[in-house]
Order: sequence, then C-alpha cells, then structure tokens
Amino acid sequence: MTFSFQVVAAPMAGISNRAYRDIVCSQGADLAYGEMVSAQAITYGNKKTLELMDIADEASPRLVQLFGSSPEHMRYAATVAQELGAEYLDINMGCPVPKVVRNGEGSALMRDPELAASLVTAAAACGLPVSVKMRSGWDVAHRNAVEFAQRMEAAGAAFIAIHGRTREQFYTGQADWQIIAAVKRAVNIPVIGNGDIFNADDALRMLEQTGCDGVMVGRGMMGNPWIFADIKAVLAGQTPSGRPDTAAVVAMALANLHEHIRRTTVAVCRREGSSDIATKQLAEQLAVCSMRNQLGWYLKGMRHAAELRRQINVLSSYQQIAELLQRYVAETADGEKP
Ligand SMILES: Cc1cc2nc3c(=O)[nH]c(=O)nc-3n(C[C@H](O)[C@H](O)[C@H](O)COP(=O)(O)O)c2cc1C
Repeated sequence: MTFSFQVVAAPMAGISNRAYRDIVCSQGADLAYGEMVSAQAITYGNKKTLELMDIADEASPRLVQLFGSSPEHMRYAATVAQELGAEYLDINMGCPVPKVVRNGEGSALMRDPELAASLVTAAAACGLPVSVKMRSGWDVAHRNAVEFAQRMEAAGAAFIAIHGRTREQFYTGQADWQIIAAVKRAVNIPVIGNGDIFNADDALRMLEQTGCDGVMVGRGMMGNPWIFADIKAVLAGQTPSGRPDTAAVVAMALANLHEHIRRTTVAVCRREGSSDIATKQLAEQLAVCSMRNQLGWYLKGMRHAAELRRQINVLSSYQQIAELLQRYVAETADGEKP
C-alpha cells in the first residue's frame, strides 16, 4: 500500500459525518475518517448504523471506522463496508467511553492485544487495508503503545494512528508526543500522530518532533475546516491564510447545514419508506438538532457569538437559521474576521 495521508481528519462521532468529511477534504485533508460504527450493529442489520456509513459516491479515499470486540462481527462488518464502497477499514482501539469499554471494545482492546490482533486479522480477511487507531495505553502504569503497535503490525495492520493520551486521561492533560515518536521508531508501517493539533504550527512541530508520517486533527477541526488548508500551506512553505472573514465562515456553516439536512432527509425517507412532508420536516429537525454544536463552533470568536448560539438552539429549520445568520452578517459583520 502506498501511503499518502500526511494531513488527516480524525474520526469524531457526531461530527465527522459525510457532509463534514466532504468539506474538510475540499479544504485539503488527504483522508477523513468516518464516525465509528458498531460491527455488531452492522451484523444485526441496524438501519441507523448502516446509514452512518454514508460513503456511496464519496471521493477516494473512503475509510470506515469499525468498533467491536467479536472477530466474527468484525469479519462480517468488514465485508458489508467493502460492499458499500469502503477502500480502507480502521478499527477503533482508542474510544474511552464507559459503555464502549465495558463491552471490551475501543480502548479496552489495548488491555487484550491478542483479541485486538485477531480483530485486525478478521477485518483484513476481506482484502482491504486495515488500520488501527489506538491510544498511548490504558493508564499511566500501562502505557503499552509500542508493543501494542508492533503486535498490530504483525497481525497485518496497514498503518496506525496513535493518540498520545491514555484511556484514563480521556481528553484531559497534554498529549504525549514522545510516545508517538517511540511507536514510529518501533514499527515499519506508516504512523499517524494525533493529539493537540490546533493550528498549522502544531502540525509542523508534531511532524518534526515525532518523525510521524501523517498528522491527525480532531478537536482542532471543529468549526474550522480551514485548518487543513493552513497545514497544507505551511507544509508547502507558504503563509497560512487562517479562517476567512465572518461572511465566508457563515456561508460555509450554512452550506454545511444544508448538505447535512439533505443527506439526513434522504436517509430518513428511505428508512421510513415515505417522503411526505411530515417525514421531511422530521428529518430536517433531526439534522438541525444534531448540528447545533457544530454551528456554534463555526461562530466561535465572532461578536455576540453566545447570543447567536442561544438563538440557534431554539430554531429547527434551515430557513430560520439562514435568516438569522444572514441578518447578523448584514448588520454586524462587515468584513471582519472572527
Ligand atoms: C466528540 C468526539 C468524538 C470522537 N469520536 C471518535 C470516534 O468516533 N472514533 C475515534 O477513534 N475517535 C474519536 N474521537 C477521538 C478523536 O478522533 C481524537 O483521537 C481525539 O480528539 C484527540 O485528538 P485532538 O487532540 O486533535 O482532538 C472523538 C473525540 C471527540 C472529542
């Protein structure tokens, strides 16, 4: 496999949906991971889970991230993702959430390298490259990322993404980039470093300090897809442009919302077997609700952002939000940069 994913958008449940993946790729991300989907739910044919793998017609590279702890489910889910058009599969071995860890999934797999290895082998049986996204370890006393990564490589992993925090840390404290460097030195497959990249300089520093092959941006892309263009610019020796002016940020936020509503409507109408007005309205409300946080992140740093967020939180249609934000741009944001 040739590896050309230097700048990568992280998988983020509720955020890295298809509409946002298309946007970050248009801004220069070389690869955008999909939100994690349950291998077990795929195996049981759960419709909402299948909808989460919204990869039909997505531009290459298409990567589906699976989570699970059963090799049988993993093998089956891999074939389903492949049939839907996935070109790469990733197995989530970093999720710290209790309800995931309790099932032996996500970061719990770092405590069971043999089961983790068998999941890689099971997923890879379909023939697609399989990567692993992991943490530095379970807790400070069990920072086994180096041996774990070597075990994943031996099991057939095509590349690795490592978030330099333990499960115990969740998202607190500072990511340990030294362990990313240690993993990079210890394996022969490509390594993507992850943790605390909030601007283009951070990305450059991680590449230099760890020797990793690619950098993955998570929270730093929330409401800021332009971070990928900035990183690309800095890597090319150019000056990054930063976020555009308020009018352009609002235009992007509205385009994002519009596309997310469109995709959600198609999915809900298909699921319900109906495309009447009530179903479409329900889909729009669901999509608006699920994007409220994201809209708030786009508005970060703008004048009266808190008040705008408060108003958005009681609106439920594209039209209402577009009118609010367009009025705001016309009245207050004449050419300013957030
Ligand atoms: C809201 C949220 C959702 C996330 N969802 C996923 C996920 O679905 N799969 C995954 O492997 N990691 C997930 N992560 C972890 C991120 O991919 C990333 O590893 C983490 O945020 C650290 O990177 P950062 O410091 O750049 O944010 C999530 C993180 C957050 C904050």
